[in-house]
Amino acid sequence: MAIASPSLRPLHKSLFPKYPCLSQYSRFRPSLHFSSQPFRFAVRASSAVALEPDLSSQRNQTADTDLFSCPVCYEPLIRKGPSGLNLEAIYRSGFKCKKCNKSYSSKDVYLDLTITAGLRDYTEVKPVGTELFRSPFVSFVYERGWRQNFNRSGFPGPDEEFRMAQEYFKPAEGGILVDVSCGSGLFSRKFAKSGAYSGVIALDFSENMLRQCNDFIEQDASLLDSNIALVRADVSRLPFSSGSIDAVHAGAALHCWPSASNAVAEISRILRSGGVFVGSTFLRYSSTTPWIVRPFRERILQNYNYLTEEEIEDVCTSCGLTNFTKKVQQSFIMFSAQKP
Ligand SMILES: C[S@@+](CC[C@H](N)C(=O)[O-])C[C@H]1O[C@@H](n2cnc3c(N)ncnc32)[C@H](O)[C@@H]1O
Repeated sequence: MAIASPSLRPLHKSLFPKYPCLSQYSRFRPSLHFSSQPFRFAVRASSAVALEPDLSSQRNQTADTDLFSCPVCYEPLIRKGPSGLNLEAIYRSGFKCKKCNKSYSSKDVYLDLTITAGLRDYTEVKPVGTELFRSPFVSFVYERGWRQNFNRSGFPGPDEEFRMAQEYFKPAEGGILVDVSCGSGLFSRKFAKSGAYSGVIALDFSENMLRQCNDFIEQDASLLDSNIALVRADVSRLPFSSGSIDAVHAGAALHCWPSASNAVAEISRILRSGGVFVGSTFLRYSSTTPWIVRPFRERILQNYNYLTEEEIEDVCTSCGLTNFTKKVQQSFIMFSAQKP
């Protein structure tokens, strides 16, 4: 089974000024406040080790909180395990919400912070724009031909899109970037390699996209020690506290989301004041689409939810984001908006 490298890699060396608990060398490293409590080391079939501290009997004890929050109640999670925002530290950590008592573990190569994490009987089926990308086949071919097809609709290609996004993200440099709906991590890896951020969280709802992302990271020695974390989450329920994130990127994703307004509201909620949101998507029609045809273009085409330039700006504005700017080429739009 593919897991984050089992060897003991050194934890990341960079400091996290905003999140001291994320640094290995921080004086706020997780202290073992509940070390006197019994721990159950549950060895799962996947061979991952989940730490399940019994926090229920803690009294008058402080706990170290994490960047990640519970998707049920948005309380910062308590983390037990090595600190650091990297694959190995997260793989070896257990996360628990003190408020609702729900445990989250990285029993696969990613940390599962969906509300449905750990459910035994209930299975949720999402709309096609979400379910399609959960397939192992689509996840495998995504960076092996699928994504290249976007160029025909005006997408400039990953290198240029990355360069454009980096321009928008200048005010957020040095902070935490969440690559929402990262797919197989095409841009997450570029953001992590750039060294411009103290941490990059590659986040997607698709388990197979995240596994594919992990495979690509393992094949790239320059990324193994970088501050990158793989998180499974729903864009409509982002596992971060309000105002805790500096930058959110969502490449070619908005049209796949079940509700653009719920997603952008969540993105706005987690951004700190001055934080930047950069997204790209396919527009419902391009500048070459005849005016006579435009009113008849269905909003939902082939199971995707395509918006117009005006609708995207409207959603961002109604979710409290300002300074909306955009670049358009055929059906491709890259836009940016800021949290005031
Ligand atoms: C077209 S891919 C984009 C991948 C990458 N960001 C890029 O620029 O190529 C869209 C991604 O959105 C993800 N997605 C769809 N619904 C989602 C949801 N509800 N929450 C989080 N991610 C979702 C899919 O799993 C898929 O990986």
